[in-house]
Amino acid sequence: MISAGSVFRLDFRMDDPAFEPSLKCLQFPVSSNSESQPMNRIVYVNGTYLPEEEAKISIFDRGFIFGDGIYEVTAVLGGKLVDCEAHLARLERSCGEISLALPWQKAELVAIHEELIRRNSIDQGSVYLQVSRGAADRDFAFPKDIVPSLVMFTQARNFIDAPGAKTGIKVVSCTDLRWARRDIKSVNLLAPVLAKQYAAESGAQEAWLVEDGVVTEGASSTAWIVKGKTLISRPLSNKVLPGITRKAVLAFLAESGFAFDEREFTLEEALAAEEVFITSATNLVMPVVSIDGHTIHNGAPGPATLRLREIYVDHARRGGVLAGV
Ligand code: PDD
Repeated sequence: MISAGSVFRLDFRMDDPAFEPSLKCLQFPVSSNSESQPMNRIVYVNGTYLPEEEAKISIFDRGFIFGDGIYEVTAVLGGKLVDCEAHLARLERSCGEISLALPWQKAELVAIHEELIRRNSIDQGSVYLQVSRGAADRDFAFPKDIVPSLVMFTQARNFIDAPGAKTGIKVVSCTDLRWARRDIKSVNLLAPVLAKQYAAESGAQEAWLVEDGVVTEGASSTAWIVKGKTLISRPLSNKVLPGITRKAVLAFLAESGFAFDEREFTLEEALAAEEVFITSATNLVMPVVSIDGHTIHNGAPGPATLRLREIYVDHARRGGVLAGV
């Protein structure tokens, strides 16, 4: 059984004795999970490719001031974008949901992705895209005639030899503190930042967010459990991001020989599951071997997860061909 105390809380009162230790632990430096990046990257800012140290964005940019923007992260494998069409379709949908009209054609955005991969010689990694409503004097409502800002950069990441793919990763649970429209890939990420920090301080690589007794998703990934030949993940709704990697895994059900039971699950059910894994553009299919210190599948990646990862990596190497979300 998971005790309520194992779920990270940020709703302490200032005089709660548990409040202070929680803040104290945030003061310790922790090593970053991401690989260090070369400082000579070429990035893209509003129409210009330039070295990252020369890239500038206005202090009035609403992405910076309000978190008024949308982002996407697309994997790159063998120098090819993975499921780029589906990521751009989700970008378009997210922007539509916040009434942000995208002034760029999809083909232009694909061309910028490809140019960044070329200029930075990315074999494995990801391309980050952020579009904000633009820069204007601070005012909550949308300013008239504002022009969106577009920032893009690459991150090198060794997916294939990622240590977690061989050993499995650890997950800790915490309260889901996010807003009510998680289907929108908004740059408002403070709740996931705090959840990931809690995970890092706990020696884990991902945080699972829990709400109303069920797992919503990972702080930056889709959550899955496996029972026999059945994969279980919750239905899409405003409560979760519609993962592109999730969509790809589901597209390969017939090939992988698994059934899909689309339903919510609790942490207790995850602890009792035969296998547990997460999916995202930065993890692909990643085995989970521990949740809140409880061992899953004898502490080693399970065969279902490894098979799904293999099928997904094959798909990714071919550049991914999923249609829009
Ligand atoms: N995160 N759920 C959340 C909350 C996410 O932030 C992500 C992706 C996913 C998985 O989506 P996809 O399979 O399309 O990557 C699910 C990205 C990788 C990030 O924020 O870095």
